[in-house]
Amino acid sequence: MNILFVSAEVAPFSKAGGLADVAGSLPGALTPYAESVGIISPLYGHINKKQFDIIATEVSGEVALGMEHIPYTMFMAEHPNGSIPVWFVSNDRFFARNGIYTKADGEGFKDNIQRYFFFQLVVLDLLNKRVFDVDILHCNDHHTGLLPSMTKSLDMKIKSIFTIHNFLYHGHFSKEDSKLLPDVFSGSYTLTQWDNYSSLLEGIDNADRVNTVSPGYARELLAGDNVDANSLIRLRYAEHKFSGIVNGIDTKYWDPENDQYTPHHFSAESLEGKLKNKIELLTSMGLDTDVKAPVLGLISRLVENKGFPLIVKLLDEFVKRGVKFVFLGSGDPIIAAQLRKACVKHPRKIAFDDGFNEPLAHLIEAGSDMFLMPSRFEPCGLNQLYSLRYGTIPIVNNTGGLGDTVENWQPGSGTGFVFDSYDLNSLRAAMKRAIDTFRLKEEWTDLIKRGMSKDFSWDQSAKQYLNLYEI
Ligand code: GLC
Repeated sequence: MNILFVSAEVAPFSKAGGLADVAGSLPGALTPYAESVGIISPLYGHINKKQFDIIATEVSGEVALGMEHIPYTMFMAEHPNGSIPVWFVSNDRFFARNGIYTKADGEGFKDNIQRYFFFQLVVLDLLNKRVFDVDILHCNDHHTGLLPSMTKSLDMKIKSIFTIHNFLYHGHFSKEDSKLLPDVFSGSYTLTQWDNYSSLLEGIDNADRVNTVSPGYARELLAGDNVDANSLIRLRYAEHKFSGIVNGIDTKYWDPENDQYTPHHFSAESLEGKLKNKIELLTSMGLDTDVKAPVLGLISRLVENKGFPLIVKLLDEFVKRGVKFVFLGSGDPIIAAQLRKACVKHPRKIAFDDGFNEPLAHLIEAGSDMFLMPSRFEPCGLNQLYSLRYGTIPIVNNTGGLGDTVENWQPGSGTGFVFDSYDLNSLRAAMKRAIDTFRLKEEWTDLIKRGMSKDFSWDQSAKQYLNLYEI
């Protein structure tokens, strides 16, 4: 089996969210079972070619987008996780800028539709030219949603898998936009209720197998949670080929015993390093360093559905209870402003780093006592898994992958604090329970150890993907 993994982001080269982590770690877990596994993604301007040894190849070509013929060249690197070839599509006009989907201020690029049409047409061109042997084309999210129908309509002997990492983002495009695509494709899409097309739904309609990143989220989607009526019909139509596979994590990159970014290492047997990281975290963020009080960490894109409307309402109250907060993330300027305001009000209790900061993300996981993840919905979520591995107790809403991976604490069992309905009182109650339990020293240490002993490596899930590939 030769597998090509197609993704708009791949860690550690480019990352906007969890998709990058999956694209950077699942292929490595598949290699022992496949003849070949490769990854293909755009070469964005901010990717450091020197740092990653990314080199130009002889492969180049051009694709037609509307009336234009647009050239591309291919670059390549070996993924640092193992000997997986990563192919990069290079084109100055579309990709040589900083940012993946948006400018630094969070505003989406105006030509995103053209950029990902172009990316997909290049993938198709390379498949046509047999630059690599591919039996399985593993597409991810809407940026790659047109490839399943493209390969089908060209009668390529390639099976396609489409993975939904987030149903919120459809990659809608208009009838006018569709005319940019070669005639063979442009007439074949299904209209949505808004009289446009959805790249996400096209992927769902046309792929040989469709999955999302947890069984819980798969159930919620089929039940119509946060899904419009028209999309639901198409989802249900795909039910026979639809499943949920929970994400794994890169256990080498996220390893408390061996983390390149944290000053102190620790394990379930020896937790002193965790306390030292807590002091390091508090000091470096300019917060009070009394270690007896709990620290809640949060790392997230700043978007409404990650639970910020609830969180910001509880900050004053929990600061009064002695809790400290560390936030890391970028996105919605309104949420960023709310967090900054909270920092000004409680300078020694709340800290916020507005940006993308990989070393700090690791230090937050390693140095916090609890991790806040009250998402309104969550396809899988990875930070709660990193948290469990780092002995940082997750506080989560019972939704999607969060419900699948965190078990609610009871004396003597469970791995985190889970609440059942997305509202202020439920989150408040879960946070209170967490803080009360934090004071029970032995109980808390047991809770930490139970979480740290869970296995979230990719192997189990990779085997489930292999089953999908055996179409
Ligand atoms: C998206 C989802 C997140 C998931 C990640 C990787 O970012 O929002 O829940 O973990 O994709 O699949």
